[in-house]
Amino acid sequence: MCGIVALVGSREASPILLEGLKKLEYRGYDSAGLATISTKGSSDRGFITCKKAKGKLVNLLNLLSKDGAPGNIGIGHTRWATHGKPEVRNAHPHLDSSDQVAVVQNGIIENYTLLREKLQKQGIRFVSDTDTEVIPHLISEALTRLKQEGVASKGEMLFLAVREVLNLLQGSYALAVIWTETPDVLIVAKNKAPLLIGFTQGEFLCASDSTAFAGFTKTVLPLEDKELALLTPLGVEIYDSEGKRQYRKPSLIVGSEKNIDKGQFRHFMLKEIYEQPETAEQWIARFLPDKLPTSSPIAFPFKDSLYDSIEAVQILACGTSRHAAMVGAYLLEQFSGLPSTVFFASEFRYAPPPLAPNILTIGVTQSGETADTLAALMMESERRSTLKDDLFSSRVLGITNRIESSLARQVTNIIDIGAGLEVGVAATKTFLGQLLAFYGLAIMIAARNKNRSIQEINDICEELKLVPNYLRDLINNHNKLTEKLAYQFVNTKDVIFLGRGINYPIALEAALKLKEISYIHAEGLPAGEMKHGPIALLDHKVPVISIATHGVVFEKVLSNAQEAKARNACLIGIAPESAETQIFDHLLPIPKVSEWISPLLTVIPLQLLSYHIAAQRGLDVDQPRNLAKSVTVE
Ligand code: F6R
Repeated sequence: MCGIVALVGSREASPILLEGLKKLEYRGYDSAGLATISTKGSSDRGFITCKKAKGKLVNLLNLLSKDGAPGNIGIGHTRWATHGKPEVRNAHPHLDSSDQVAVVQNGIIENYTLLREKLQKQGIRFVSDTDTEVIPHLISEALTRLKQEGVASKGEMLFLAVREVLNLLQGSYALAVIWTETPDVLIVAKNKAPLLIGFTQGEFLCASDSTAFAGFTKTVLPLEDKELALLTPLGVEIYDSEGKRQYRKPSLIVGSEKNIDKGQFRHFMLKEIYEQPETAEQWIARFLPDKLPTSSPIAFPFKDSLYDSIEAVQILACGTSRHAAMVGAYLLEQFSGLPSTVFFASEFRYAPPPLAPNILTIGVTQSGETADTLAALMMESERRSTLKDDLFSSRVLGITNRIESSLARQVTNIIDIGAGLEVGVAATKTFLGQLLAFYGLAIMIAARNKNRSIQEINDICEELKLVPNYLRDLINNHNKLTEKLAYQFVNTKDVIFLGRGINYPIALEAALKLKEISYIHAEGLPAGEMKHGPIALLDHKVPVISIATHGVVFEKVLSNAQEAKARNACLIGIAPESAETQIFDHLLPIPKVSEWISPLLTVIPLQLLSYHIAAQRGLDVDQPRNLAKSVTVE
């Protein structure tokens, strides 16, 4: 989703802005732009150079290599279209009518129509369809008035103008503003969209997420909602919406600054699929070390109050994270004995269930920035506080891959899945990390509540320790197998994935993976539901991919697969090799493991198959059209 970078300092801004935008590319975007201010040839007033290009960053780079964008201050943006098509005129930065004020914004200004109409009545001509364009016009209008009122300094004038305009905006935003009359002042602000400030000597870089700071600084300060910051080469001042100065120290970004590169792989997605054994290995080393007490078998750092007297669990998430949550809910109910419900975070926000006591609320988001998930958690916290549920804050848990994210700041109890930066838009290793987090939680709760015997707890823990090796073998064996199989499906239009029980969410995840990167229509179904309608879709052109692992529903899934075969569907099985699984036209074999841990393995051939189909269709696997890695708007 949109990415912002903004710089004030003493070096040429545009190369640093481009570098930052490059690091935010993985978030997903469809156009890009930047604006700088240069004062060459004039003493105190500068001029704006604004360059924008549709499509990939390389197009912007080409534009800049011709004409450049001089100046030591600038704002840059990668845009993921919401209001208005991905066209140059809708790309950011947006300027006021006199080209004196430039703004980049990430978020949605919900009342922009009213603001736009008002400005149009005053004679302002809009050049874009965006919600953002109202902002530079409003700032310009406020500046004109403040000038007449004779506010002391120009920097203060810009600050007051932006603050005034922010009070008019409804919705979510992170934004950066520059003005030709203050060529060394950068104003940034945020509300319900992320924005961080990175510090070095005499130079400050603001960005939507911490990846943009790699190679620039590790010292970072996240802005809080409704705060504004005034940055000059001399320092940073942060204010709340009332104009009260805020004092906070920046902190160090944890973790090593790894280079974002694909290594020997053709795509990040394939590299990240291959990184999954390591993700599991590290998870086990951190949370499942040997010799933990049987009453507390997982090394989570949480206080007893997180688990005590919990009667049910509610989980809020979107997309792939929701699928991980569904496996989690299955484990929490069936293994640990706790009623568990998964909600689409976007639905929960506007239709939550009636409040019930003693609920553990879990928010799952790999990016830690998904607007719907953060807002749903916030809403839940607010409605529980009105009921004086003092335990809510200790009974809320976040699962994320980004420990420096908004989620990690919003929620005290965090499971950091520690999968390392995931660049491919399609989640793979973070999905595995989220699954593992739920295994940990389910085992911990089952042990504490004595819902499972010591033997059962030990068995699942021991089996989990074998997962990295299983994953290694699976990935090595299936990469070639799925690559070969993928050729057959390059021109397929529809695919059906079937699963049951703990593997039903894996069928959903497989369908999501395939559609998002290959643009092939795919549906994931609980295998037993097929005969209630979707079976009408089947013929020889629709492959059916069925997940059948040993356990309570093994035979049932095979019967459902037979029903598809009888309709001439090409049948692919994700199943252990056995006499029964010979019914499949193609088998992607998985080892015989307990049904409990099977989702950690069944997902692998499905990720690889989607990957190879998309790659063979020649698509942009890592940045599929229309998608964003960090969905920071509602
Ligand atoms: C799919 C995918 C998305 C995300 C969803 C939630 O591959 O990546 O469906 O899972 O946008 O994102 P997070 O986990 O960041 O909240």
